Amino acid sequence: MTKQFRIGSFALGLVAAIVVAGCSNSGGTDTGTSGDAKGGEAKGGKKPLVVFSQANSQDPWRKVFDADTQAAADTHKADFEFEKQDAGGDPAKQNNIVDTFMVKKPAVLLISPTEDSVQSTVDKAFDAGVPVIILDRNLKSDKFTVYIGGDNVEIGRQAGEFVADKLKGKGVVLMIQGIAQIGPTRDRRGGFMEIMKKNPGIKVIEGDDCGYQRQKGRAYMETFLQKGEHIDCVYAHNDEMAIGARLAYDSWAKTKPAGSAKDPLFVGIDACQTEVIDMIKAGKLDATFKYPTPGAKGVEIAAEILKGNKPKDKKIILPTVKVTKDTADQYLKDNPNLAK
Ligand code: FRU
Repeated sequence: MTKQFRIGSFALGLVAAIVVAGCSNSGGTDTGTSGDAKGGEAKGGKKPLVVFSQANSQDPWRKVFDADTQAAADTHKADFEFEKQDAGGDPAKQNNIVDTFMVKKPAVLLISPTEDSVQSTVDKAFDAGVPVIILDRNLKSDKFTVYIGGDNVEIGRQAGEFVADKLKGKGVVLMIQGIAQIGPTRDRRGGFMEIMKKNPGIKVIEGDDCGYQRQKGRAYMETFLQKGEHIDCVYAHNDEMAIGARLAYDSWAKTKPAGSAKDPLFVGIDACQTEVIDMIKAGKLDATFKYPTPGAKGVEIAAEILKGNKPKDKKIILPTVKVTKDTADQYLKDNPNLAK
């Protein structure tokens, strides 16, 4: 299923909504009308409870995210209890987890949504007066206290610029997509297509939703290669799918005639695992973009809320970094806590 893709206006909407670039706390946006409980007040001498509903804890990026979050929470043991539950990628399970958390009257709810459909559960928690900190996957409603995450439109744009530059404005890109019903996918696609629009010599084949999973990316690429369509680049919405596509390509390439077309570029997003950086060093992947994990900042903001300090900004945007062969070693030095 392939079709030429035109940029949607959603990306522009998100850009307009972003309050700050970088992780500073400048500016002053009202944090909403509810989610205002004074959670810092421990009842009966008990410490307040901060809860975290994680979308899934299986993939490398989430493993780094969980470890960062836990490490930050460990520094606040004297201030609050911390409880985390993994929804295993299932929105129904995440709704249940949040509802169960709510029975415990948490002081702050941190949530990394599985997908857009958990919106009403998050709205309910916010309406009940619990400060809500959304991590990574942005939701469409305004019912949250703070959003913390990377700028996915900007990452998509930077990926687009890298590809347009490498292809010198001409060629065919296969875009392997993440989960369709989430903000990061829409934005990584939107930012990329914004740049492609300025490069009419590049055709983008809109690939399937491969769920941000390596195996699905690999299986999709295997099927795609069987069609014999020429491509100059694979842009995958995360590194796991880029790795899957590369592995599929390497198996397929063993059968292609010697001296035939050169390998396509492979570009991913996340830069959270040494495997990816090693593949960049080995020339198996061409670039990735850091998608910073938002958990430590989330815990820090939760601790501030408990002290009665409402964040000034409703959106805290964490910066990205481009990683290529030239910068791979430096990136490893700067990021010692990557997943395997
Ligand atoms: C992990 C993940 C990351 C991606 C993010 C988008 O579950 O798929 O690879 O960057 O979620 O929300």
